[in-house]
Amino acid sequence: MALKTGRGAHAPPFLVMDVIAAANARAASLPPGAFADGRSVIRMEVGQPGTGAPRGAAEAAIRALQAGAPMGYTEAFGLRSLRARIARHYAERYGTAVATERVAVTVGASGAFPLAFLAAFDPGDRVAMAAPFYPPYANILTALGMQPVLLPCDAATRWQPTVAMLDALDPRPDGLIVASPCNPAGTMLAPAELAAIARWCDTHRVRLISDEIYHGLTYGEVPEATAAAFSDSAIVVNSFSKYWSMTGWRIGWLVLPEDLVRPVECLAQNFFINAPHVAQVAAEAAMDCTPELEANVARYRASRALLLEALPRAGFDRLSPADGAFYLWADVARLTNDSPEFCARMMAEAGIAATPGVDFDRERGGRFLRFSYCGPAEDMAAAPGRLGAWLGR
Ligand SMILES: Cc1ncc(COP(=O)(O)O)c(C=O)c1O
Repeated sequence: MALKTGRGAHAPPFLVMDVIAAANARAASLPPGAFADGRSVIRMEVGQPGTGAPRGAAEAAIRALQAGAPMGYTEAFGLRSLRARIARHYAERYGTAVATERVAVTVGASGAFPLAFLAAFDPGDRVAMAAPFYPPYANILTALGMQPVLLPCDAATRWQPTVAMLDALDPRPDGLIVASPCNPAGTMLAPAELAAIARWCDTHRVRLISDEIYHGLTYGEVPEATAAAFSDSAIVVNSFSKYWSMTGWRIGWLVLPEDLVRPVECLAQNFFINAPHVAQVAAEAAMDCTPELEANVARYRASRALLLEALPRAGFDRLSPADGAFYLWADVARLTNDSPEFCARMMAEAGIAATPGVDFDRERGGRFLRFSYCGPAEDMAAAPGRLGAWLGR
């Protein structure tokens, strides 16, 4: 008789990780010069800056190691100096006062989610989010016995939830997750919209979790706003993975409401003890590397403009407005209703890796895919030509 397995044993994969593995294998199997443009598989599946940590961050880590710093445990919420630096970031960037005590350094934003969910919700609690959504929100909630409640969104609301959608929920949820800019659509909530959602949550005692990981990567008319400016009970999630270009260093943070500071600290002590010490040193230095990081943003901006112009001519003419992050959410209903099959063929034949929409929207994702444009500028410039040729344009 098979041994019992737990609820977590049934967690679905985070599909993009499987696509990354397939693209690695495809790239390794190709002879040089397999494509006419002389490039290998063009990686548009992965939401990872190709740039690595800013120089000042890497140098701070090297300096600390060369000085023989023992790199032991830190406090569960991280180095005091990093927490204070993050608190200062809120004052400088948003004009919002955040006490250092409310900042918890975590193992990426990914490590922040289980802490936040467990501190805020119980098994059985219902947590709403826009669909399409970042898959781990729902997968982690489900693994913890909580229930994701999907709010189907489309271009009419820039793929973002509205107060009217929340009002229509019966029963009312226990929590709401928002992301602005969001993954996969790259769209944003205007500050007034985020403020209205935060007010609605406070009025109805719904715990708001605001994923702000793509702040700093915005290109359009919509200004960035933090939920910390609008609500003292909201939980804010952020990370050094995107703007700060430090995915593998695994440093993120939470801004916690007062009532959850000690509960999350206890959970963090038990779950992770602390985020990697040397990476915290690097992250603190990264916050002073703005010119290098803004040069990365300028590159994303140029790739975004190029793709918004060239992808429609290549046959991908229904793209999300792409206010921020580094993603384009493409409606490919005219080409397929089976995005995993379409993406597999696109990788095999055109040598372009993209993520099938089913990762982000199980209901409608068969007719969507997500292009990421944070890869090398030369690859992004070559992609539309390859795609157009593949689709016979
Ligand atoms: C919306 C969103 N939140 C959180 C994460 C997790 O980021 P990390 O754990 O690297 O900080 C990602 C990564 O792609 C993301 O897109």
